[in-house]
Amino acid sequence: MSWIGVDQLCQVVSRDTAMAHIHWLSVHWQVDVPDSGHYLWWDDKGLSLKSAAFDFRSSVHVDFVEGTRARRIRAVTGEALTRAMGCQKGLRPAIFDATAGLGGDLSVLANIGCAVSAVERQPVVAALLRDALRRAENSDTGWCERVQMKCADSLDLMSHVSHGVVYIDPMFPKDRKTAPSLSMQVLHTLGGTTEKPERLLDAALDSGAARVVVKRPIKADFLAGRVPSSQVMGKTVRFDLYPRRKLTDEDSHPHQGLIDG
Ligand SMILES: C[S@@+](CC[C@H](N)C(=O)[O-])C[C@H]1O[C@@H](n2cnc3c(N)ncnc32)[C@H](O)[C@@H]1O
Repeated sequence: MSWIGVDQLCQVVSRDTAMAHIHWLSVHWQVDVPDSGHYLWWDDKGLSLKSAAFDFRSSVHVDFVEGTRARRIRAVTGEALTRAMGCQKGLRPAIFDATAGLGGDLSVLANIGCAVSAVERQPVVAALLRDALRRAENSDTGWCERVQMKCADSLDLMSHVSHGVVYIDPMFPKDRKTAPSLSMQVLHTLGGTTEKPERLLDAALDSGAARVVVKRPIKADFLAGRVPSSQVMGKTVRFDLYPRRKLTDEDSHPHQGLIDG
């Protein structure tokens, strides 16, 4: 499938360099904004996703260097997410992030010292994430060197996983009480982000990981009805823990080869 990309400034050199990082995405670049559908937008800030159905000024864009995400990355040290992963007393398990999305969680985990192998199946979401990582690397954000990412289906890789932790953060069901963010509205209409998370959990429990962690809305049922051994509660979400064996320093080593593009 080919996506429309708009590059009004025709920044061919920088755009082509960046596109080499997201080789899985076929883009037909043009200068005019289309009347309908989603389209990629290229400017001096890098890659964004826009939708003709929304205000032109709105975009889905990931920035790990400045703004809200960058502040969250710097702020988090001991929150529920990091405790759920088993980060304590210098232990920083290597993590297989099976549902990387736009990289909010993985950036926090890499920043506190975990090696992260991140996999995202939806090609546009994966492209937005990879482009943000590229820009963060270029601005010397140290944690990026601990992140490897791939556009793939985690189900295809899970049998080779032997990380300390497999982390699964499925799309939450649409909750009518809270208005979804623009990013979520656009991502929900993109296609390819909905999944069968039960299958991911089954595969993760059969992998070589020491622990499987599933993020859930705070009052949601257990994924696939599987009762976790313990839970870490956040303010609006909880993390269900399925330990397979004890986490040790051996589980901190980065994994090469599994995620190579
Ligand atoms: C809720 S989002 C993850 C958010 C992420 N934890 C963050 O902090 O930004 C879920 C993502 O998982 C991806 N996904 C679902 N099933 C997948 C699979 N089998 N393999 C890879 N990615 C998958 C979806 O495309 C979606 O982008």
